[in-house]
Amino acid sequence: MTETTSPVALGVIGGSGLYALAGLQDAERHRVQTPFGEPSGEVVIGMLGAQRMAFLARHGEDHRLAPHRVNYRANVWALHQLGVRRLVAVNAVGGIRADLGPRSIVVPDQLIDYTWGREGSFHDVDGAKVEHVDFTEPYAASLRRQLLAAAAEAGVAVVDGGCYGVTQGPSLETRAEIARLRRDGCDLVGMTGMPEAVLARELAVDYACLALVANFAAGCGDQAEISAADIFAHLEAVTAHVPAILVALRAV
Ligand code: HPA
Repeated sequence: MTETTSPVALGVIGGSGLYALAGLQDAERHRVQTPFGEPSGEVVIGMLGAQRMAFLARHGEDHRLAPHRVNYRANVWALHQLGVRRLVAVNAVGGIRADLGPRSIVVPDQLIDYTWGREGSFHDVDGAKVEHVDFTEPYAASLRRQLLAAAAEAGVAVVDGGCYGVTQGPSLETRAEIARLRRDGCDLVGMTGMPEAVLARELAVDYACLALVANFAAGCGDQAEISAADIFAHLEAVTAHVPAILVALRAV
C-alpha cells in the first residue's frame, strides 16, 4: 500500500466505458483502505495536462461491479482521503428527452433518486449522530460552470442542465418506467448517480456530473429494444471527448 499527501486538483470517477484516463502522465497507483471497506479499485494519480488528477474506475478497471454493488462510500471516502475536494463523475446514461440522443453530453443540474438498499450516508453507522445535509442543489454550481466552460474551450458540445433519474438496475427500464420518469421530470436515466452525489456533499466535496448518453431510454427512440453493442459503441465514441474537457477544466 502507498500513501500520498500531495494535493490533487481534481478527482474523476469513470463510469461504463471509462476505465482509465488517456493521457495521464507519471501515474502512481494507490490502494486505499477505508472504514467503509474496499473502493472499486486502486486510485490512479497523475498529471493530465497541467493538473494533478486522481482517477477511479467506478465499476473496477475490469468492469466487474454492477451499479448496485459499487461501494460508493469507500470510493468517495478514498478520493477525499487522497485530497480530492472537486470531483467530476462521468456516468453513462440513457436519454429521455428527444434532444438527448446517443453521444450527447449533459451536465445535469438536478437528480431524482429511485435506487434502494444502497449505503447512502457516512453517518449511517452505529453511534454516529444523525445528519441531514442540504441537497437542494445536488451538483456544485461552481464545478458545473467550470465543466461547461471547459467543454466550450475544448470545442465539445455539451448540454447545460437536465434532471438525472437514478434507477437501481442492473436491467434497463421498462417503457412504462421511463414514461413515469418522464412524467416526474427526468431528462436522463442512469444507475450510478446516487448515492455518490450525496456522499460527496456529506464530505463537502464539490461534485458535478458529465452524463454521456449511450442510448435513447426504453420507448424513447425508434428502437424496439436496446442493444448492449450499440450502447458500448456510442459510449466509446462519446467517452473520447472526456480527457479534452478535463484538460481544459480550471478552477474559476
Ligand atoms: N437506463 C439506465 N442506465 C443506463 C441507460 C439506460 O437506458 N443507458 C446507459 N445507462
